[in-house]
Amino acid sequence: MIVRTIAVVGSGPAALFACERLKREENLRVDLLETLPFPFGLVRYGVAPDHQGVKNIQRQFLRHLEADTVRFVGGVQVGEHISLAELRELYDAVVLGVGGSVSRNFGIAGEDVPQVWTSDRFAGWYNAHPSHTEAPPLKAGGRTVVLGHGNVAVDVARVLLRNPDDFAGSDLSQQAGDLLVASPQGGVVMAGRSGAAEAKCTTPELRELLKLDGVQVRLEGADSNAEALQSLVAEQDQDAITTPVEVRRRKGNLQSFLEVAEGTEATVPNTRELVWAFGYRPVAFVEREGKLAAVRFAIRKRGANGAWQDTGEELELACDFAVSCIGYVTPPLLGVPYDAARGVFANQDGKIDSRLWAVGWCGRGPTGAIATNRKESHARMDSLLAELSGATDSPKQGATGLDKLLAERGVRTYSLDDWRVIEKAEEASAPDNRIREKFTDLATVQTLLDGA
Ligand SMILES: Cc1cc2nc3c(=O)[nH]c(=O)nc-3n(C[C@H](O)[C@H](O)[C@H](O)COP(=O)(O)OP(=O)(O)OC[C@H]3O[C@@H](n4cnc5c(N)ncnc54)[C@H](O)[C@@H]3O)c2cc1C
Ligand SMILES: NC(=O)c1ccc[n+]([C@@H]2O[C@H](COP(=O)([O-])OP(=O)(O)OC[C@H]3O[C@@H](n4cnc5c(N)ncnc54)[C@H](OP(=O)(O)O)[C@@H]3O)[C@@H](O)[C@H]2O)c1
Repeated sequence: MIVRTIAVVGSGPAALFACERLKREENLRVDLLETLPFPFGLVRYGVAPDHQGVKNIQRQFLRHLEADTVRFVGGVQVGEHISLAELRELYDAVVLGVGGSVSRNFGIAGEDVPQVWTSDRFAGWYNAHPSHTEAPPLKAGGRTVVLGHGNVAVDVARVLLRNPDDFAGSDLSQQAGDLLVASPQGGVVMAGRSGAAEAKCTTPELRELLKLDGVQVRLEGADSNAEALQSLVAEQDQDAITTPVEVRRRKGNLQSFLEVAEGTEATVPNTRELVWAFGYRPVAFVEREGKLAAVRFAIRKRGANGAWQDTGEELELACDFAVSCIGYVTPPLLGVPYDAARGVFANQDGKIDSRLWAVGWCGRGPTGAIATNRKESHARMDSLLAELSGATDSPKQGATGLDKLLAERGVRTYSLDDWRVIEKAEEASAPDNRIREKFTDLATVQTLLDGA
């Protein structure tokens, strides 16, 4: 039996669903290379701490890493510790599942003001990512502007507005929990350049945000009155072009906004405020006296053809902090053609080159929930297996060659057993009412493992 070797790069959902498919093949050996000592990608570092039910998929993913034919090799950054060309020399095929978790920029004035953050940084901070340990400049009673109407924006607003006690049973870090208690936000504005029908978030996530305890919600801008929302709901009923799932999502969102516009919620004094603003296109972050003072917006409305257009009017929203949540890009990797317009590796249905494949966000772009990656990764691995099935060349070195090269370079790697020790230690050091305290300092992880 010829045994082929595959290097899968990354250990997020796309890479792990690829492993789920590949582990069934008895004539394959898979090495999963991950930059961090910790597996699971954005499940660990993107999914919000108060959504532990979603994070539980890690248990399922662990089973793929435990397969006899799969090996987790943490601590290896492809492009830094080993080049892609070297990896392709060592393995019969390479699958890139490196995600795309670097935030997009607007390219507008003031984006470099220190109180203007991107969602990779903010979500990385509340999820205790080792590269995002700096605390955000939150002020007690302050106002934050969250830019974007996708699910990431909804997560960011919810984390800022949620009663800190509601993080009980989560893995929110001690540092993040303490800062959220010390700096409760007076208000959050969710500003999007489009309207209620275009909001990209999903209905359960939207409803959860709109129903947070102690938070008063108000709509602003175009689409903010009940009449406009009712006619948008009616338009969805007549939409025969969009998929039924998409129509259901839009209608669910519109009905949720409509409930707010109809004011079925009584006004409660002394609550925090959530303003959901439609048709606000950011044009500048305004700095005064050395810090963020406001975000300036061009006001837009729906034109006769349904497209959103500037009205020529501008306004400024005063704030102390802003978080832009407008999508992500994959950083380029030497040896991989790059589609700069989309911020992904150039590929055709996942295929980049002979025996070089992309799965998940680095190939498809930053769309879709965790489960979306499963079907795609399985289909792409089917195609890769078909590509390998007729091959007559000699098998490559795989793990032996990788281990030798990394040892020569003095690269410290982390195994699945190391991860088990790390996980136990994180659980053991959980603060009160939390399930773990994640390590953010890699030197501490090394010390822990050296003493284990
Ligand atoms: C803030 C946020 C919250 C989200 N919340 C949810 C949610 O609640 N529910 C849901 O269903 N979906 C959620 N998603 C979407 C979901 O996380 C993605 O669909 C999914 O993670 C994409 O998987 P991926 O494997 O392509 O990328 P990722 O999850 O980003 O995994 C990529 C992995 O590759 C590693 N890597 C990167 N570069 C290299 C390299 N050069 N060498 C080695 N390793 C490398 C990274 O460290 C990472 O572990 C969220 C996304 C974000 C951004
Ligand atoms: N709970 C969950 O299931 C969950 C949680 C988080 C993320 N996710 C998934 O992860 C993926 C990424 O989420 P996301 O929120 O980052 O992306 P997203 O859903 O694509 O939303 C991006 C938002 O940014 C806006 N935007 C983009 N470019 C802009 C610009 N130049 N100026 C102003 N606004 C701009 C978009 O507005 P327009 O609509 O006007 O383009 C949109 O509101 C999504 O598929 C999401 O569902 C899921």
